[in-house]
Amino acid sequence: FNVPQPVNEPVLSYAPGSKERKLLQQALQTALEQQRDIPMYIGGEEVRTDKKVTIRPPHKHKHVLGYYHEGDASHVEDAIGAALAAKEAWEGLPWEQRAAIFLKAADLIAGPYRYRLNAATMLGQSKNAFQAEIDSACEIVDFLRFNVKYMCEIYEQQPPVSPPGNWNRVEQRPLEGFVFALTPFNFTAIAGNLPTSAAMMGNVVVWKPANTQIYSAHVLMEVFREAGVPDGVINLVYVDGPTAGDVIFNHPDFAGIHFTGSTGVFQHIWKTIGNNIHRYKSYPRIVGETGGKDFILVHPSADIKASATAIVRGAFEYQGQKCSAASRVYIPKSLWPELKELIVQDIKSFKIGPVDDFSNFINAVIDEKSFDKLAKYIDAAKQDDDVEIIVGGDYDKSEGYFIHPTVIVANRPDYVTMCEELFGPVLTIYVYDDGQWTEMLDVIDKTSIYALTGAIISQDRYAITQATYALRNAAGNFYINDKCTGAVVGQQPFGGARGSGTNDKAGSMINLLRWVSPRTIKETF
Ligand code: SER
Repeated sequence: FNVPQPVNEPVLSYAPGSKERKLLQQALQTALEQQRDIPMYIGGEEVRTDKKVTIRPPHKHKHVLGYYHEGDASHVEDAIGAALAAKEAWEGLPWEQRAAIFLKAADLIAGPYRYRLNAATMLGQSKNAFQAEIDSACEIVDFLRFNVKYMCEIYEQQPPVSPPGNWNRVEQRPLEGFVFALTPFNFTAIAGNLPTSAAMMGNVVVWKPANTQIYSAHVLMEVFREAGVPDGVINLVYVDGPTAGDVIFNHPDFAGIHFTGSTGVFQHIWKTIGNNIHRYKSYPRIVGETGGKDFILVHPSADIKASATAIVRGAFEYQGQKCSAASRVYIPKSLWPELKELIVQDIKSFKIGPVDDFSNFINAVIDEKSFDKLAKYIDAAKQDDDVEIIVGGDYDKSEGYFIHPTVIVANRPDYVTMCEELFGPVLTIYVYDDGQWTEMLDVIDKTSIYALTGAIISQDRYAITQATYALRNAAGNFYINDKCTGAVVGQQPFGGARGSGTNDKAGSMINLLRWVSPRTIKETF
């Protein structure tokens, strides 16, 4: 193939005293002093409005990071117009030229933009340095480089058979119309991947990030522009969801949505698209990754220390705000006393606080709404005699939205926090009798309304085989002897089915194929 063979972007450690740590600290300092004024980007123009919204770091909500300019329905219409105007030239560009633009974007992020983008992710989304590095440096760079490779494989695949007298070929056309990218707060990499994977395949895009991620989204947009994404190919708007939806989903040129966010919003969008289906030129592509209620199942044969690490890391990295985060764990009675001690000890060793103190492992949750929701679940658990909070349970929003990592032990596997998605640093554990192992497999499968990630920790090959089969529909990403988070692009294509989405695997050829509509051509000589 004609493109560089990608390797995963190495993770920088930001060790105390390192050059990298100094550069990141400088970038944080600059960001804190700057108070950026953040425009929308429509047709290559920076668009400002008279509605400026203040951006504040979740871990220090009295501080002002900057302002973004909020738009209205007319800006969404302008963005669609700009996208459609850019379409012919963009899809007419040889695919290698599009590849070059996105490879350059990857190099810009891996190089000159690395510290600025990481600082924006740390401050705007309250990620610690490591969590920012694996997201807004490594994962987005990997998405761009690996997707270029998959794109090349799609364009250069073997043509169909042609008997003498015919030439059969398949042309990978972009979709007819524009693609809407609706992106989440929790990964800068996902926010970058959703518009670029569609754009790479020759599509034009209207991109609406979560309001709580605009601070890093606009840095990505600057990268895309510097890399050479032509005006109008990706248009970035900040408009409230219902207003944007009204314009987008009523438009005859709406050709597809690339979504990551909540299950409720995705289902609403799906219904809206269904109701408007007669308006569109083609059946739109609907690609979405939504909620999760991800599990770790510990078998009686498990290594106790490895189990504790998988559970604690899987549940509490980035305050549990990964759609892949472990939020329900099943532990056998025989291992519980020792495992409980290790889990509690590990969690008590975590430092909690703002991101600019690099020793803090736990930072804030994203906003007040999320804080209040989590506090409510914790309060309900405190008042319920059937469950016990064995560590955590404290929260404080006086300076920032801090929820202490909390572990609830439930006496039944259908307790509310064993089933509902909380999206925060609250883990629920159910302790089962060792003899109930086979029954647990059934319980997990039946309570998996979502099916994003799951893990088994075991040293017993028979149990691993049994769980892998019994839980085959309960997780799109299944981990054996590891935590259930941290999929690496190019290594573990990511996505789930059931309530977790359409399972079109981010960072894979499957995903890129959703953004083309092939045309078969038969020529007779
Ligand atoms: N890809 C991330 C993970 O695996 C979640 O979006 O943790």
